[in-house]
Amino acid sequence: MPGTSYYDVPPSAARLTGSLRDIGYDFQTAVADLVDNSIAAGAHRIGVELVFDPNASYVLIWDDGAGMGPAGLLEALRFGSRRAYATNELGRFGLGLKTGTFSQCRRLTAVSRQARHQARYHVRTLDLDYIERRDSWSVLADEQSDAIEEAVRILQDGPGTVIVWEKLDRVLPDRYAESGWGRRRLNMLAKKTADHLGLVFHRFIAGEREIEPVAISVNGEKLAAWDPFARDEEHTETVPEEIFEVENGDEPSEVVFRGYVLPPRDQFSSQEAFERLSGPLKWNRQQGLYVYRANRLVQYGGWSGLRGIDEHTKLARASIDFDTELDETFQINVAKMSVVLPPTLRNMLERPVHDLCARADSAYRRAASAAEPRRPSAAKASADGVALLEIGVALKAAMYENTDLPGFRKALDTFRRRHPEVSAALGI
Ligand SMILES: Nc1ncnc2c1ncn2[C@@H]1O[C@H](COP(=O)(O)OP(=O)(O)OP(=O)(O)O)[C@@H](O)[C@H]1O
Ligand SMILES: [Mg+2]
Repeated sequence: MPGTSYYDVPPSAARLTGSLRDIGYDFQTAVADLVDNSIAAGAHRIGVELVFDPNASYVLIWDDGAGMGPAGLLEALRFGSRRAYATNELGRFGLGLKTGTFSQCRRLTAVSRQARHQARYHVRTLDLDYIERRDSWSVLADEQSDAIEEAVRILQDGPGTVIVWEKLDRVLPDRYAESGWGRRRLNMLAKKTADHLGLVFHRFIAGEREIEPVAISVNGEKLAAWDPFARDEEHTETVPEEIFEVENGDEPSEVVFRGYVLPPRDQFSSQEAFERLSGPLKWNRQQGLYVYRANRLVQYGGWSGLRGIDEHTKLARASIDFDTELDETFQINVAKMSVVLPPTLRNMLERPVHDLCARADSAYRRAASAAEPRRPSAAKASADGVALLEIGVALKAAMYENTDLPGFRKALDTFRRRHPEVSAALGI
């Protein structure tokens, strides 16, 4: 504007790159943010390799996506890449590649090939040591190392991108870089990464909802989709989906809720299947809401403050789906690891969540009472007990549907106070 006086104060590259290392990633969530990029680039095959090499260990994240030309590569390495996004593209901030990488290491090289018929590729590097020395946002060209050579080899067959992580200071601190401990640590991280990717990208791996399937491997092992809802188990109970409209500027946007009650242990197809469905956090903490942004899981475990974690409701899990146009409303964070449920949605979710938990609670109690050793004379009472529990659930569900929640809670409290034994028998 004419007459406006101002100063341009560009940030210090040395300081800012350092500060951005600590915005809350761990190894597997950082890798997942790079896998987002590969999926956005249309990849069908994605691989993660953790290579132990005394003092020169490295990590590769490769894909067979569209690849980038030299200009695209430079833009990709800019903090705050300049670009526009289509609805439901996984990227948003123009940061993940850099912030994810530097949360784990000091040197990021992107090797990319766009040409289909020619093995022509470009190599560009961001090195924190170089950036710190010069205090400038410099991208290095044509750096060399064993890891970069390996990346080039991977691209020999066709287009794609390989991201190379070197100088793994956060993964393998100096004193461990060449020890057996370092090797074990990389193996442990590979396992964690495999579990995490199998969960957060399970819809992509399984090719659900008309998504083109994506094969993901970690250290050469192809991942199976880990479906938190055990939908292929015969005794998994599915609650009819509900669609909620959430304010979003002029037009409301839809959020979809789908509830599941997983089978108790003895109704799983096998003990092994039951153990597998326990998940990384184990049964109790794995209950709750699984929030998906554009089909990618961004938060799970617990009820987002709607209720507490409870042994009796550990079989309840539910998915919440939202599109990227609701990103601001859900306050998605840069690491794509957490969201905040908007207050209007929280209110709308109370009823279906409590309803789901009532069902899960009764499935749990039925299984517990069936498993209890009993004397023959007690058998009838317990058989009655099961019937009573079912009556209890039916009553509760009917009341949920026809009473507002505070009223329902009050009525329940009164009932419990007046008839403690009956309410225990009914499981309410
Ligand atoms: N594997 C890849 N294949 C093709 N292009 C890529 C790849 N990785 C990154 N890019 C390009 O680099 C850009 C920057 O990536 P980066 O992850 O830093 O930000 P983003 O994906 O745009 O947003 P977000 O910060 O939400 O991840 C991407 O938008 C994309 O254009
Ligand atoms: Mg990204």
